[in-house]
Amino acid sequence: MRPTLLLIHGFPLDHTLWDANVEALRSKADVIAPDLPGFGNMRRTGLEATMESYAQALLDDLDERGVGAFIPCGLSMGGYVAMALVQRAPERMAGLVLCNTRSTADTPEGIAAREATARDATERGMDVIARGMVPKVLGRTTRAQDPGLSNWIERMIARQDPQAVAAASRGMAQRRDRTDVLRAFDRPALVITGAEDELMPLPTSQAMAEALPAGKLVVIESAGHLSNVERPDAFNAAVLGYLDLLESRERS
Ligand code: MLT
Repeated sequence: MRPTLLLIHGFPLDHTLWDANVEALRSKADVIAPDLPGFGNMRRTGLEATMESYAQALLDDLDERGVGAFIPCGLSMGGYVAMALVQRAPERMAGLVLCNTRSTADTPEGIAAREATARDATERGMDVIARGMVPKVLGRTTRAQDPGLSNWIERMIARQDPQAVAAASRGMAQRRDRTDVLRAFDRPALVITGAEDELMPLPTSQAMAEALPAGKLVVIESAGHLSNVERPDAFNAAVLGYLDLLESRERS
């Protein structure tokens, strides 16, 4: 059976983050790339924005589409949501792809920085957030070689709703350590990161791959935090290889 791959974008981005991946991944899976509540086309007010509420919104959406089992593939904040999905509905997980993310909770310094980001979003505006974030989310190779990509990401961040961004930032600060959730996940799982990711340094991904009983780590050279857009060919190849592995296991 063709698997369903659920692509979950990071913060403060939207579904277009996956533009360079969707078509390639469709060769082996039904691909769904939604906006998380409050982001992209999913504007709304009165947000509860925890990783658990995002996970539930995704499950509701999949229920409406008649999707049972699926493979969450989340990048960064999307990875936090993917781990909340694994915890909430383990029986529906046909696999798991965690990209440029971490399973641990925020440190006290991290929590304080989330509050500062939330305030900056609502008080200083998304242009300020966008200009501050782009140098952090793109690797040094991309920053040096691909100004067009930097501009594209800056525009994606700048168009997000400040209230939704503030709510998400505070929601991320509340998330719990889900390393135990990974330890209990016994299907093959894929961890992807970029060798130049400064937000999620390599040991973070190594720790997740080690916690997962059947975890495999792929490190993409010359890519930073947004490995899927910085090196789409390498990223797509890693995910397609993983889908092949799942398929061969199903056959045997
Ligand atoms: C993201 O890309 O989603 C964010 O960097 C996640 C985070 O700030 O922890």
